[in-house]
Amino acid sequence: MKVIVVKDKVIGGAKAFEIFSDGIKKGAKVLGLATGSSPLTLYSNMVNSDLNFEDLISINLDEYVGLSPYNDQSYHYFMEQNLFSKKPFKKSYVPDGTTDDVAATCKAYDEIIKKHPIDIQLLGIGRNGHIAFNEPGTSFDSTTHEVKLTENTIKANSRFFDTIDEVPKNAICMGIANIMSAKKIVLLAFGEKKADAIKKTIEGEVTEEVPASVLQKHPDVTIICDEAAAQKLDDKYKN
Ligand code: GLP
Repeated sequence: MKVIVVKDKVIGGAKAFEIFSDGIKKGAKVLGLATGSSPLTLYSNMVNSDLNFEDLISINLDEYVGLSPYNDQSYHYFMEQNLFSKKPFKKSYVPDGTTDDVAATCKAYDEIIKKHPIDIQLLGIGRNGHIAFNEPGTSFDSTTHEVKLTENTIKANSRFFDTIDEVPKNAICMGIANIMSAKKIVLLAFGEKKADAIKKTIEGEVTEEVPASVLQKHPDVTIICDEAAAQKLDDKYKN
């Protein structure tokens, strides 16, 4: 695992952009993308760059069950606003949260990932170490599945909604095995609320209780965190 500690999320986004643009210049064709606040500085670097994504495919990690792409809290909408409307891809996949057959949608999503192996996967991290919506206890062998969100995740994500009752209770989410199949993984973590999760991910044991700890087993992972998220790490990780 390569750990890069930066001063703040602006520099973190610029660093992540360097990795993505270098990968794309070297031939990466499929990007695994994420939502949440962590990727925003990277996406603004992408939007303001002269990179062209029209030959590339994007595959997003997750979507809330029950939210249409036009709902401003859906991950479809988030991606459209922050990236796709300004930098369109040849094809962008986000799980269909409005499906009436979740199991079939999950299976089809696995097929999409198999057909388009992910070259670079972007990740954020939850305060409990979740990646995408893979909460503690999720099998490392999991593929795309329906997830019941934990109370903590619902609470953390309620900041984007008017009331906590509006936060969906379920999501469709790539599994850990899908994420681990990516050739390269870049995880972004900014802010002190991520400090415990980052310490366990990098220095803790590899356990399904800390989903992101699985990344220790991947051959090409870069974790970019700001000083606040890195505050509990051993000094050797601080540049
Ligand atoms: C949600 C998303 C994750 C994201 C996490 C952290 O649970 N499903 O993909 O990594 O929130 O979000 P943020 O980057 O806003 O801290």
